[in-house]
Amino acid sequence: MTAVPPAAGDLDTGTPHPARVYDWFLGGSDHFAADAELGRQLDALDGSTKYCARHNRWFMRRATRHLAGAAGIRQFLDLGSGIPTEPNLHRVAQGVAPQARVVYVDNDPIVLRHAEPLLHGTPAGASTFVQADVREPELVLERAAAVLDFDRPVALSLVALLHFVSDEDGAREIVRHLVDALAPGSHLVLSQMAGDWMPERTDRAVEMYKAGGVTLVPRSRAQVEAFFEGFDLLAPGLVWPPDWRPELATDDEVRDGTEVPLHAGVGRKL
Ligand SMILES: C[S@@+](CC[C@H](N)C(=O)[O-])C[C@H]1O[C@@H](n2cnc3c(N)ncnc32)[C@H](O)[C@@H]1O
Repeated sequence: MTAVPPAAGDLDTGTPHPARVYDWFLGGSDHFAADAELGRQLDALDGSTKYCARHNRWFMRRATRHLAGAAGIRQFLDLGSGIPTEPNLHRVAQGVAPQARVVYVDNDPIVLRHAEPLLHGTPAGASTFVQADVREPELVLERAAAVLDFDRPVALSLVALLHFVSDEDGAREIVRHLVDALAPGSHLVLSQMAGDWMPERTDRAVEMYKAGGVTLVPRSRAQVEAFFEGFDLLAPGLVWPPDWRPELATDDEVRDGTEVPLHAGVGRKL
């Protein structure tokens, strides 16, 4: 089950962590027994959670392909990047625009431990990882500024991150702080667990995460739309991940009809 060596001092392996549970959903090998156990419990709710993770990942890829392509974005800030999973965002962006510069940020030490694949960008561009907590947005921006020029457009990705940031932790204010630093023409890529779809299932998922010591915060469509204040939502708007520009899919993506209860969208800063 555990592909990484026995825990280093900075890893708490006895309780589930979002990055490692997500790794389990994606079929990765960088998780521990507690993560797999929570993953199994969540998947048992209706058997779709693994597919949701894959569809979320595919949404990130299609959004990045659009941004590096038609939208002409050359700078990417990916917060809550997760344990590296090929193809990572910089591969997608630099596959379209080799000069793309990418900064990944995550607060889980296991991501830092496996960050190596995130550090191999193209010679023309850049790809780097910063361990930081999004709840300290000033610090995140300061570190990212070593690689990114905030006077020029940046694509900010908050993909499957904000449902781990509570309102008490200031989710709205954090997003405001981050987007205020972005130049006009920047983009916001966001997906977040829906709170207005099958409430009983969602409540069970919240309870399961809570039992593992993780706060999960599903949000309604209106709450997610509010994160896009000051942005023009690109067509087709806020949708389930498989419905966001399926024409940009690559051959390995599967339209399997799975219901994917995440609100997902991309906006352009006015
Ligand atoms: C579900 S994973 C999503 C990974 C990736 N964005 C994707 O969609 O494929 C959520 C990630 O957010 C990270 N995360 C959760 N809370 C965070 C915080 N306060 N600051 C930084 N990262 C955080 C977790 O460690 C995890 O890697």
